[in-house]
Amino acid sequence: MPYTIDVNGAKRTVDVDPDMPLLWVLRDELDLKGSKFGCGAGLCGACTVHIDGQPTRSCQVAISTIGSASIATIEGMAAHQIGAKVQAAWMALDVPQCGYCQAGQIMSATALLSKTPRPTDQDIDAAMSGNVCRCCSYTRIRAGVKQIAEGK
Ligand code: FES
Ligand code: FES
Repeated sequence: MPYTIDVNGAKRTVDVDPDMPLLWVLRDELDLKGSKFGCGAGLCGACTVHIDGQPTRSCQVAISTIGSASIATIEGMAAHQIGAKVQAAWMALDVPQCGYCQAGQIMSATALLSKTPRPTDQDIDAAMSGNVCRCCSYTRIRAGVKQIAEGK
């Protein structure tokens, strides 16, 4: 069935099963491979994208439920006011190790800082706790969020 969705500000049409998860649409149909498959069960955060600005596990969202919502992926973050700052801080602080989780981490951090420019430690914990990093980059992720919050 055809669906036209708004991805990073562009209309994209795909012809897929209604139950196909958004993550599969992004990666396999639209060749946007920055969002990663980790668990496929909503548990790791590797597939996090924004849907109308909300960080969302794209492995858990069927294409048929997207409608006119705006989707943003890691590929769109260079042009996102906060997303670009997060990416710059991540590079300055060498946040990624293997990098596999980092698209999801950046999407969650960007959503947090867009909504809460000066997050507390509790805000950071609440926003980032669903993004798992097997390389344990959590300390540098927190430092990156704080660096942006402090305007450095
Ligand atoms: S792949 Fe979606 S939460 Fe793990
Ligand atoms: S940097 Fe390797 S899983 Fe997070």
